[in-house]
Amino acid sequence: MKHALLFVLFAAAGVCWADPGPPAVKGPAGGPPMLPYQMRTLLPAGDRQSGGKDGGVLFSNRCGACHLPGGMGTNLLTKERVAAGAAPESGLLTNRKDLTVDFIKMVVRRGKLAMPRLTRVDVTDAELDAIAHYLGKPGG
Ligand code: HEC
Repeated sequence: MKHALLFVLFAAAGVCWADPGPPAVKGPAGGPPMLPYQMRTLLPAGDRQSGGKDGGVLFSNRCGACHLPGGMGTNLLTKERVAAGAAPESGLLTNRKDLTVDFIKMVVRRGKLAMPRLTRVDVTDAELDAIAHYLGKPGG
């Protein structure tokens, strides 16, 4: 009985004094570290219908939740690309050299497998044009 009690005491002490390891890097809210897809840029100021905005900033804001590193679009495309024999880095849309502007616009408006279609409220035509030219191969 006495030994059992001692065992319980030592076990409890072991839990309390266990080495917590190095302190974790905290995100801005004091939570776990933030991944790129959780740290998208803000939507550029101004009228969403007018052109001339930075396609990279719009891509981060409108598509980044799924297509920045760690996003579910990146994860699914990485699996798909690797299965097709391509390099894993090509799971990131920003690393692709083969996507045409028209194909990108079509996928966004119609959706593709696990990607939902995005309406003109989600992404205006002006925004999509800037994003598709940012991602798409030059001249097409
Ligand atoms: C809700 C998550 C989500 C959002 C938001 C999203 N996508 Fe996707 N996207 C996906 C997923 C998932 C796939 C992979 C579909 C598949 O399995 O082929 C994908 C695939 C694509 C593809 C096809 C790539 C290929 O090789 O066939 C393009 C192009 C694309 N997305 C562009 C965009 C653009 C541009 C935006 C922003 C305007 C965007 N996506 C926003 C989830 C998303």
